Amino acid sequence: MEGVGDTVWDRMAVLSLAPDLDAIRPLTMVPEDALLDLARQVQFILAEGVAGDLVECGVWRGGAALLMADVLRRARCRDRRVWLFDSFVGLPPPQAIDGPAALAWAASGDQHRDDVVNCVASLADVRDSAERLGLTPFVEFVPGWFSETLPEARERIGSIALLRIDADWHASVQCCLEHLYDLVVEGGFVAVDDYYAYDGCAIAVHEFLGRRRLAHRVESVPGTSAGLAYAGAVFRKASTTWGQSWKWMQERHRTAREIAAAVPADAAIVLVDSNQYGPGVAGGRRVVPFLEHHGQYWGPPPDDATAIAEVRRLRTAGATFVVVARPAFWWLEHYTGLQRYLRSTFATVWETEHLVVFDLRNQGNPG
Ligand SMILES: C[S@@+](CC[C@H](N)C(=O)[O-])C[C@H]1O[C@@H](n2cnc3c(N)ncnc32)[C@H](O)[C@@H]1O
Repeated sequence: MEGVGDTVWDRMAVLSLAPDLDAIRPLTMVPEDALLDLARQVQFILAEGVAGDLVECGVWRGGAALLMADVLRRARCRDRRVWLFDSFVGLPPPQAIDGPAALAWAASGDQHRDDVVNCVASLADVRDSAERLGLTPFVEFVPGWFSETLPEARERIGSIALLRIDADWHASVQCCLEHLYDLVVEGGFVAVDDYYAYDGCAIAVHEFLGRRRLAHRVESVPGTSAGLAYAGAVFRKASTTWGQSWKWMQERHRTAREIAAAVPADAAIVLVDSNQYGPGVAGGRRVVPFLEHHGQYWGPPPDDATAIAEVRRLRTAGATFVVVARPAFWWLEHYTGLQRYLRSTFATVWETEHLVVFDLRNQGNPG
């Protein structure tokens, strides 16, 4: 990924595809943070040109799937569709492998009466919602049990850029992965909503990845669900080279954007723990590693005195800013002497939850 200027993130910003959450909220049980993360994934797919359609297996009232369709509509994207797979008569019963939370739910008996608990939404209702939101041209409904619909539909879908599995139980999740994973293109996303909520769902993911010997890193999706700190999981179907994870790409982009805003283009920056970020994060600014040894990154210092001596040496050699990005914030906590020195000696010209920047050009803190 490059620095700020002509990146996929800049193209995403230009697309400006904030989805209509007010319309979506009553149609989904997916928490808001996770919906926003999903919208960002679709924007990323469009900006990056990841080929293929978007698929949701397990749609209930259609909210998450229609959110994806809404992003397509706003992008005037006519060559992709969102596929909605569901029984439209609710969940099948859980099995022992789905774990205590699933079995407790089944034992409550409510699932036979309560449409929300059992995730019952009719095909007609979801079609009406799509129509009302103007999204009909962007969606394709495939009603029925996955075991019957997926083998036939996979021929029609072609390639998949994003596969969202929100089907709760082990058997359902396993069926989706077995039939659809191979259609997901390199660089595409597989999101698994119930990874944290139900044991069987997590087991199905691990069994599949293990059986295929796939090294995809499973990342948590922000939000709170079922009393758990995460709202789901996502992995990228990518060669899992370092730096390709969804969260890290976003973190790195935020760092690049804030460096571009905080530091002049001709600056020479001391970037703390610089090897974390790879080339381009400083948008063409000269990066001096910290610690530095013969021009190379040399790892964390043994103590405050070494760190402070290094800042002084690099400043004398022409460095003009010290930049600490969030992944390196632990330095400021651990090297308290270094933090005190930087804050008391130089102006802090930028401080957010992602980035702190000290200006080395003038000694003597104006504050
Ligand atoms: C938790 S709900 C989906 C929530 C939805 N994605 C949202 O935005 O709120 C789970 C859905 O999966 C469907 N489902 C689960 N297993 C299935 C299977 N084997 N075949 C078809 N549908 C299934 C259920 O009918 C239900 O609508």
